[in-house]
Amino acid sequence: MSVLRHDALSAAFDHAATRYDLMVAASPGYHGHLRRSARRLGLPDEGRGAHVLDLGCGTGASTAAVLAAARRARVTGVDASPGMLERAAAKDWPPGVDFTRACADRLADAGVHGPFDAVFAAYLLRNVPDPDRTLASVREVMAPGARIAVHEYTLGGRRVDRALWTAVCKSVIMPLGRVGGDAGLYEHLWRSVLDFDTAGAFAARMRRAGFVDVRVLPLPGWQWGITHTFVARAPGAAA
Ligand SMILES: C[S@@+](CC[C@H](N)C(=O)[O-])C[C@H]1O[C@@H](n2cnc3c(N)ncnc32)[C@H](O)[C@@H]1O
Repeated sequence: MSVLRHDALSAAFDHAATRYDLMVAASPGYHGHLRRSARRLGLPDEGRGAHVLDLGCGTGASTAAVLAAARRARVTGVDASPGMLERAAAKDWPPGVDFTRACADRLADAGVHGPFDAVFAAYLLRNVPDPDRTLASVREVMAPGARIAVHEYTLGGRRVDRALWTAVCKSVIMPLGRVGGDAGLYEHLWRSVLDFDTAGAFAARMRRAGFVDVRVLPLPGWQWGITHTFVARAPGAAA
């Protein structure tokens, strides 16, 4: 099986939506790592809330991480899967949080204009058919100087990182996915990480897309060498 794209991927996320929160709860450090990446946006906790785009918000785990890092933020969660969005929208959110269905590589065309003060994209970029196009679409809706944090499975350069990822997928993640009836989605997860950029290659991709001050930060625990936060800014001065 190759990786899933477009409608096939959305359908797989729709199917997995009811079990998604249970699956991520079984992943050690999932929520803590998201919160750590969201804090790396460096948003003010107090004062007027920044308007943050949570791109590929899924069932809202990343939305909650943004709010934990910046409790006064206004957050627009965007996702292509109606099933995932339905789960997100059903949760109890403070005022200023909304959810919209759109494809990440056509944000402005879908009426998601911003301009956003910050963007958080957790476990999204590896899933899109054309990451360069998605990064261009994201830049279009960012205010000058706005911050971005991409949280993604991006292997380090070591052979052991690939071996560890395959071992974790085959021994834990894929068997659990099969039990829930979502074998295809979790095989996609395994393969899409192997096929995607290494951490260094993704940082270079962000620079080519015009982002500035790009930094790659590791995450602790079993995800060391497997998951990274990429923090950067859109060019220009923040208002
Ligand atoms: C692995 S989930 C991550 C959800 C959430 N950010 C989290 O951290 O738990 C990836 C999400 O990206 C969405 N997605 C995948 N491709 C997309 C695209 N082209 N446009 C918008 N959303 C997309 C999926 O529907 C899914 O909900």
